[in-house]
Amino acid sequence: MTTLTVLPSGHTHEVAAGTTLLQALMAAGEPVNHKCDGQAKCGSCHLFVQEGRKTLSKIQKLENDMLDTLVGIGSKSRLACQTVLGTEPVTVELLSFV
Ligand code: FES
Repeated sequence: MTTLTVLPSGHTHEVAAGTTLLQALMAAGEPVNHKCDGQAKCGSCHLFVQEGRKTLSKIQKLENDMLDTLVGIGSKSRLACQTVLGTEPVTVELLSFV
């Protein structure tokens, strides 16, 4: 287990390491978009990782290619559906809401 803090609400959840951010956010009842159901095809689950980037899975080509098509990405950008949680606490900022 690890800790996932969600901005802007500031809610903190105990979540399972080894699951994707999308799975963890949905299980926690957080309002995260996922229009392609986690296939890296829509970009709607784009969020910023504010803390804990090093504990997350590395960006793979599929995620990188989708991020390249989005407006407003930065060094903290990840796709929640492609990002697997590690064992350290993470803080994410949701950018769009369901
Ligand atoms: S849910 Fe579509 S890219 Fe993540």
